[in-house]
Parts: sequence; structure tokens; C-alpha cells
Amino acid sequence: MSKNKTVYLCSECGADSPKWQGQCPGCGAWNTLVESVAEEKSASHRRFQSPMSAAKAQPLAEIEAHEAVRISTGIREFDRPLGGGLVAGGVVLIGGDPGIGKSTLLLQTLAKLSERVDALYISGEESGEQVALRARRLGIAASRLKLLTEINLEKILALLKSERPEVAVVDSIQTLWSEQLNSAPGSVAQVRECAAQLTRLAKQIAITIILVGHVTKEGALAGPRVLEHVVDTVLYFEGDTHSSFRLIRAVKNRFGAVNELGVFAMTETGLKSVDNPSALFLSQHERDVPGTAILVTQEGARPLLVEIQALVDSAHGNPRRLTVGLDAQRLAMLLAVLHRHAGIACFDQDVFINAVGGVRIIEPAADLAVALAIVSSLKNRALPDKLIVFGEVGLAGEIRPAPRGQERLKEAAKLGFTHAIVPRANLPRRPIPGIHVTGVARIDDAVRTCSS
Ligand code: TYD
Ligand code: MG
Repeated sequence: MSKNKTVYLCSECGADSPKWQGQCPGCGAWNTLVESVAEEKSASHRRFQSPMSAAKAQPLAEIEAHEAVRISTGIREFDRPLGGGLVAGGVVLIGGDPGIGKSTLLLQTLAKLSERVDALYISGEESGEQVALRARRLGIAASRLKLLTEINLEKILALLKSERPEVAVVDSIQTLWSEQLNSAPGSVAQVRECAAQLTRLAKQIAITIILVGHVTKEGALAGPRVLEHVVDTVLYFEGDTHSSFRLIRAVKNRFGAVNELGVFAMTETGLKSVDNPSALFLSQHERDVPGTAILVTQEGARPLLVEIQALVDSAHGNPRRLTVGLDAQRLAMLLAVLHRHAGIACFDQDVFINAVGGVRIIEPAADLAVALAIVSSLKNRALPDKLIVFGEVGLAGEIRPAPRGQERLKEAAKLGFTHAIVPRANLPRRPIPGIHVTGVARIDDAVRTCSS
């Protein structure tokens, strides 16, 4: 088999070099050159110069657009982050830590799908026997699902072309290798090339391909997020592997909304959809404890109640700031705001913050809950019982409104919470039965409201 020529491209500036070098000849960055397939430039270049082939723009109104036909996965909480189901010709990337349940979920999904469509599971990580064993444990051994254990990209492409399954899973993209490159499987060059080729084929023959990708220690999908640009939908598996709950979050979706969450529980027989997840991330305390605040966060279409825990303790040496499930930079900012605008100093204290249940919170509306949990821990005074909090804190000490405040309050009331501290702009126009809502405009107001 003849090999295409390879070149080394700088991942920072795009300069190319015929051989690998430690430093990019273009921008001088170190260790940025990655192998990739050399494109045949001359032919396309010549065509481009001919006036006959000038591209033609089309009025948007004249383009016929059809709503993409969705193939439901048969698993409701998986359909949700996908935006309602899989799309023919769409490529989905599912990332997550090893052992979080990617293979389990996809095997369950394909088994369900194979009742209605042709489905193919391509495993590069596990042997056929291992997959069959898992299927038996999941109670889906009798499904019509087809399995291929292969890591050679060219062979996989050929099989997809001849068999044309409606849905195919590649588990995982890091195990594949293309004959056109010399680099080892899992290298940036291989991962990118394999994903690009599979994506091209998916569009060409209109099949859905789901790629599994491992997350590196730094939290990126291997190959500095190279894959996220290539595919249509990017989903991340989240959750603490020690707890049984798993979340799937859409971070990019060309066919739907982002930040939709799917919620699952890992059981003896695989992943099960969780019907009513809003109260999952609360821990049960026998009595009021200082340092906790209940946040109502809005993830996609549904509000979730999440307990935010803070521990503020005298520092020995350099004070430490650690967060689990929340942004550490944001914590530093909040501590500064608390000091300047509410007179609460933590510079000689260690501050640890945790979002219960392994959920990751990215919205700024979590600020007020974090701030009040910190104050509660520092003063060793529990916040009032049955209280929920949300709101963004600004650098000037102001409390900014959060989107969809009413829905958050209603969900909290439904779960039996009786008090709320929220941004003044989020005060409901009409009272919500069962919950007394206090609006605050500034961080010092909020702190005072809690301690009175
Ligand atoms: P797996 O799906 O292989 O994770 P990944 O493909 O993301 O690396 O493994 C998920 C974990 O879940 C594994 O450690 C075993 C556990 N598990 C269950 O608890 N119940 C089950 O039914 C199965 C199949 C796995
Ligand atoms: Mg796996």
C-alpha cells in the first residue's frame, strides 16, 4: 500500500515543515509540530485560478431547508443532550474519564437502536468476548447489534461503506490508526486524521457515527480539543466515579441547544435514566451545619438543586483555595468582592469549595451560594433551614439577576424549600405559594439578610 506524503504542521501557527523539529520554523513555539497528511495542493490550486470554477453564492431564502430527521436512541436522558435524538450524517463525540460509563451507555443505546435500525459497534479497546460478556450482564445479549473489533481506519471505512449501518459507534477514537501516517495510535495526528475521515464518510453516505474519546489529565479530549471542531456534537460525561450518578452535558451541538443535561444512575444492570433529578445533589444532614448553601442552578431546560459546601479554616503558611465542581478563578474573585464590599476577610484562611455529587457548575448564578457558604463556614453559623440561593456577584459588589428566576423558585418551592435569597431583579411579580422570597441588591445586603 502506497503511503501519502506526510508533513509536520505547527498546531499554533499552521506553518509546515517536511520533517519533525522541536521548534516551529514559523512562530518559534516549542513542541507544536504534529504529523499530518500532505494535501495535494497543485491540482486544486490550478482549478481555483480558473475563472470558470468561481464559487457562486446563493440567496439564503432560496435554499431549501428540511428539519433534520431524528432517530431517537430509545433512552430519554441520552436524547435530551443530543437535542432530541441522533441525526443522519451527524457525528457525535462523547468524552469522559476512563471507567465513567461511556462503553456501557453506548452498548445499551446500540442494543435499543438495533431493534429498529442497523447498528454497528466497533471496539478497538475490548475484545469481542469482553463486549459480549458485558452485554450479557446488561441483559441485552440477544439483540441484533453487530460487533467489529478493529483498529485499522481504512478497514473500518471500507466496512462502513459496504454495510452502511444507520448508526455506528467507534470505541474509542484514540485506538484507531490510519496507514497514511507514521505516528502511533492516540497521537494528535492519528486522532485528528481518523476523526476527519470518519466525519467525511458519515456526511457522504448519511450515517450517524458516535466517537468515544478519552479525556486527558488536563481535562481536554486528547489532541488539544482538535476533535471538537471536526464533529457536529460534543457531549461530556461528568460525575464522581465514586457516586452512582452520571451526567451527560452537551457542550457543542449543531443540531440543538447546549448545556442540556442528561442524568443517569449507574446500577448493576447498566445506566438508568433518572426521572426527577432536581433533588439528587443535596446531601442529608441531620441538623443544620455551617458552610452549606443550597443553590438552584438551571442546566438546560431543567432546574437542579445543588448543595454548595464551603470549608474555611485557618491557614498554616500560604492560604489555599481549592474548588471541586466550580471555577477556582471565580472563587478568588468572590473572596476579593467579599472583602472589599462586605468586609469579610479570608486572606489568612484556607478556603475549600465543593459542589455535592460531582456535578460541575459553570453558570455565574452560583456566585451568591458560594459566597454565603463561605461566610457561614467562616462565622461557624448555619444558614437558615430550607433556604435556597442563586444570583451572580459582580466586581462592584452588586447582585445580578439570573436567567429564569421564576422557574428556579417554583422548583425549590415544589421540593419543600420555604425561603429564598435572590437578586432583587429576580423577585417574582406575584408571590409563589409556599416560599418567602427576599431580594438583595448588594453582597453586604445578602450577608446581613442571612445573619439577621
Ligand atoms: P465503562 O462503561 O467501561 O467505562 P468507559 O467506557 O467510560 O471507560 O465502565 C463503567 C464502569 O461502570 C465500570 O467500572 C463498571 C461499572 N459498571 C456497573 O456498575 N454496572 C454495569 O452494569 C456495568 C456494565 C458497568
Ligand atoms: Mg470503554
